[in-house]
Amino acid sequence: MRAPGDKSITQRVLLLGALAGGTTHIENALDSADCRATADALLAMGVGIERTELAWQITGRSGDLDRPDGILGLQNSGTGLRLLCGLLAGQSFRATLDGDQSLRCRPMDRVVEPLRQMGAGFDSERLPLTVTGNPALCAIDYRLPVASAQVKSAILLAALQAHGTTCIVEPTATRDHTERMLGLFGVAVRRDGIELRIDGGQTPTATRVPVAGDFSSAAFMIVAAAACPGSDVVIEGVGLNPTRTGVLAVLRKMGSDISVSNERVAGNEPVSDLRVRGRMLTGAGAYLGPEQVPRMIDELPALCIAAATAAGRTEIRGASELRFKESDRIDAMTKGLKILGVTVESFDDGLVIEGGGLNGGRVDSQSDHRVAMAFSIAGALAREPVVVQDTNCIATSYPDFVTDLSSLGVAIEPTDQNS
Ligand code: S3P
Repeated sequence: MRAPGDKSITQRVLLLGALAGGTTHIENALDSADCRATADALLAMGVGIERTELAWQITGRSGDLDRPDGILGLQNSGTGLRLLCGLLAGQSFRATLDGDQSLRCRPMDRVVEPLRQMGAGFDSERLPLTVTGNPALCAIDYRLPVASAQVKSAILLAALQAHGTTCIVEPTATRDHTERMLGLFGVAVRRDGIELRIDGGQTPTATRVPVAGDFSSAAFMIVAAAACPGSDVVIEGVGLNPTRTGVLAVLRKMGSDISVSNERVAGNEPVSDLRVRGRMLTGAGAYLGPEQVPRMIDELPALCIAAATAAGRTEIRGASELRFKESDRIDAMTKGLKILGVTVESFDDGLVIEGGGLNGGRVDSQSDHRVAMAFSIAGALAREPVVVQDTNCIATSYPDFVTDLSSLGVAIEPTDQNS
């Protein structure tokens, strides 16, 4: 199978393509609900976006967007919303952003605070919020209080439009797709240890971006195959950016047989094919702490399922950020695993899972795509069928998930309660 296009990267090409001068070509873009929400917001601000099966074309505005007529609705997309705040911070108009019930519950003060320091106006720290752009933004020196690529990227997008040199310090390295992509668009970003520096007043230049396969989507197939003795699955074109792939080391420590081949570079990102052969896994045991968590933040729901099938225990701590995702993922995973007969203890910052296998049962995704996919692969690995309630959310990041999981031989049926 082939991994679908990366959601984080597709969102970033859309946003940088919108700011750039000229026409950007995106190959292997992820056509999912989140990416469409971002594209629609940009269309409402005069950006040209044409989608065909093979490529998307973004005709940028050389730095100046049009004021949108209505509210910009980002639906479920935290990345789209937070990065757009950075882009809008430097524009010469006021725009109101909103999202669905899940996005309305998520914290926005983490982007509002630094962007206010740069000179943008915000009327609120929760959605809906109105951004008053300021074409005379000032550069800042900013130490991120939480390890967040979304916040870092929002500041980078504002910094591009600001006067002076912005310096960002991360507590722990987070995904660096924005920095890599700025390079592709001809914008200089300097890294010196944990400090990142970008000069304002640079306009990105349109380019061609082949989008790597999404490691976070592939992770569900990787876990499904790795934890099923006898399986042998090849996933082609998976992005292996080292800021995203922390879970591979954990799965290998648990005994997984995962090999990498055909290593190449696409769009300034490392890409490879993965071969996963299934085995009986053993629990990861040791503490996975705050230093490791940002490199596997979106893969933790899938890792919880691997841990539940393994022999022994797995301890995930230092992951309090999981409480601020599309759902409170510590709560959603704990509740679902308990329903499937797993012994699990939760903490403010993580959970401890005793392996031993999964029973059947009916679990609630809490409208969170990664929770829904995690419990779908739990169904593939459990002793009895698992019913996952509320799976429409999977379309936000992996519209072909059911087709791809079925192609591995997993039987999936829609139920009355579960469209
Ligand atoms: C993302 C960063 C991560 C991740 C999210 C996508 C991005 O969020 O969980 O799914 O594209 O920058 P945080 O930056 O809030 O940790």
